Amino acid sequence: MKTLRLQLRFLLPLAVALVGAAYIALPLLDQVTLRWFSRDLNSRGALMVNAMSDAVAEALLDPRGERLSTLLDRAVQDERLFAIAACDAQGRLLHATHAFPDGLSCARSLSIANRQDPRLKLAGGAVHVGVHNIMRPAPDLPAEPWGNPASGPATFDAASAAPAQDAAAAAQGPAIVGRLVLLHDMSFIEKRSQDTRRYLVGFIAILGFVIALITVSVAQLSWRGWVKGARAIMRGEGLVSPLLPPPELAPFVDELRNSLRDLEDEYRRMQGPALEWTGERLRNLLQTQLRGDQVIVVSNREPYIHEQGPEGIVVRRPASGLVTAVEPVMRACSGTWIAHGSGSADREAVDRHDRVAVPPGVEDYQLRRIWLTPEEEQGYYYGFANEGLWPLCHVAHVRPVFRESDWEAYQRVNQRFADAVVAEARSEDPVVLVQDYHFALLPAMIRAQLPQATVLTFWHIPWPNPESFGICPWHKEILQGLLGSTILGFHTRFHCRNFMETVDRSLEARIEAEYSTIRFQDKETLVESYPISIEWPEPATVAAWPSVAQCRQQVIDRLGLPQDLCLAVGVDRFDYTKGILERLNAVERLLEKAPEWIGRFVFVQVAAPTRASLDEYRSFQEHVERVAERINTRFGRPGYRPVHLLAQHHEPDAVNELFRAADIGVVTSLHDGMNLVCKEFVAARDDQQGVLVLSRFAGAAREMTEALIVNPYHVEETADALLRAATMPPAEQRERMVSLRSTVREFNVFRWAARMLADAGRWRLRARVEARVRRLGSG
Ligand code: F6P
Repeated sequence: MKTLRLQLRFLLPLAVALVGAAYIALPLLDQVTLRWFSRDLNSRGALMVNAMSDAVAEALLDPRGERLSTLLDRAVQDERLFAIAACDAQGRLLHATHAFPDGLSCARSLSIANRQDPRLKLAGGAVHVGVHNIMRPAPDLPAEPWGNPASGPATFDAASAAPAQDAAAAAQGPAIVGRLVLLHDMSFIEKRSQDTRRYLVGFIAILGFVIALITVSVAQLSWRGWVKGARAIMRGEGLVSPLLPPPELAPFVDELRNSLRDLEDEYRRMQGPALEWTGERLRNLLQTQLRGDQVIVVSNREPYIHEQGPEGIVVRRPASGLVTAVEPVMRACSGTWIAHGSGSADREAVDRHDRVAVPPGVEDYQLRRIWLTPEEEQGYYYGFANEGLWPLCHVAHVRPVFRESDWEAYQRVNQRFADAVVAEARSEDPVVLVQDYHFALLPAMIRAQLPQATVLTFWHIPWPNPESFGICPWHKEILQGLLGSTILGFHTRFHCRNFMETVDRSLEARIEAEYSTIRFQDKETLVESYPISIEWPEPATVAAWPSVAQCRQQVIDRLGLPQDLCLAVGVDRFDYTKGILERLNAVERLLEKAPEWIGRFVFVQVAAPTRASLDEYRSFQEHVERVAERINTRFGRPGYRPVHLLAQHHEPDAVNELFRAADIGVVTSLHDGMNLVCKEFVAARDDQQGVLVLSRFAGAAREMTEALIVNPYHVEETADALLRAATMPPAEQRERMVSLRSTVREFNVFRWAARMLADAGRWRLRARVEARVRRLGSG
């Protein structure tokens, strides 16, 4: 079909060209034929007149004209001669045969004969007009048998006939005594002309047909050849096919194949995901799948923290992957977010129901704050959650600590949050999104009070293998608490499997591995993987960002860095799971291995303070500071420090500026559920430059395969990756970055939430159908 269209594209112009050629050629052909035949008739007439010349000259002397009429009547017997007339030297018509047209004078005949087209149209058809001189031969000069002055154009000249001159002329040689007008029948010419035209049209048509046939056959053969060839190239069969070029063209073929793939990739990237997930689309999904039901989020960390500053109350965004991901979802869904009010000015910002509308100035949803006593915070948050569950699940070689008192605080606080959920619920079946390891008991507690609620629990950190989890003295209670969820989500399938195996080892539960469900105490939970992500920045947001060059200059000026540098950046909470020590060791190794980078390679680590009251964190932070100092002492020089450790909180804009200024983004977590910092780095690089070095132990490594993936425990490997990133050509950076960006853009946080909420919608529908069936059965 495609070839047919292509061929038609060629054949139609060919047809038009041939018709045009015929249109021009046919009148030209007529003119040429007419000229040929006219010349032919003139020669024929001249011959005839030569033969009759003497007889006619004499006949002209006959005053009665009988001889002349006899001569002319005899001459007109010629089948091609239509009529003949004789004129005297002065142009008077002396005699004409009967067919000679009445109104045709000698002078007009002469003027027609001298035209390019000496045709005269008569009622019965056209005739050719020829006028020939009749000479009186001089007595001493024999008449020329073939050529004579008659061959030149004849003219009627009054002077030539003057009697006085006649005598003189007679004495000098032949003189014109009259003229014969010959009218030749042209019907045979027209017939021949028509025949010739027919032949020509036939010839053009045949020629066109032959050209078209050759074109179509050649096009078919070459198209098939090309398609076959191109397909073979794309399949990588390359040069084995006889249709493909010889081995010396191999580089060209490779080049062609690569270019074709590049084009195809570029096209796909430009197209983007078929239908991108946005806040708006998520809102629509809530309306359709969940009938606009109330959404309640529960997390320990609040999305906005009011702090008492020197100049009054300021609002701060915490350094938290959970908040980064869930906040845009909440803005899209409205509803209520219940969280621990941890800011020094939080109480001043809330109303009498402990609620404040956020984001400040926009007020898309309600933030409900829960107040904890220092003891509660110590036992539940610092103790059980962060000294117990956090190291237990991260397997980062820090011993988990489990205290009875912490466990009790953890239970109490979970119950307080469950009560808050019940208090905030406007119906008996709200959709409750429970976030993270701080609330392992909450799902079952909510279910106890709101059995119809849909509880979606998301575990943001890894889930270890059953042996590791079994270390926790209350592992059964935690599993039972989580199995109060309708849906329990992890970042990866690996963590889902670990959880199901842990349940299998610890509880009397029915596990349907095929459907990824667990039935425990007559209640079913779907265990599913939902890789979390970030909100992809809107074009208007990106347009408002300072340029990459501006960001770079600002960072250089602020930190006093050398102008010509390779800038590597890490942004994390100051946590031992993030692999900050390991990356410092890698930087040190890089400067040992490649001393040419001393003075030019700078590593900036933003380390947001976190859980600093815990010994493990304090000693870790001090350790990092010592290592940074050691590297700076070893490789630093006036005006140059290889490591800049910024142990302060940075707001999102400042982090974005650093990401845009950097040549390398470094994420070397020793174990991480997902890690959103690497996704934020990629989202910040609309210039498609920058290299991501990413730990294989972060959940994100499964999606972001175009990063330089490293084992952070392997110092040599990580140092080499940093070096490779520092020397990576811009084209390779672009290739990798474009692909990473398209992944993060497509698998954004709205898609994460949409998948969970859509599953919840299906679950609720199923529950309603089951309830109706039960009612019908019992009725
Ligand atoms: O990684 C899970 C997570 O909840 C993150 O969302 C967050 O960064 C961190 O753990 C908790 O941090 P914090 O204790 O400061 O709230």
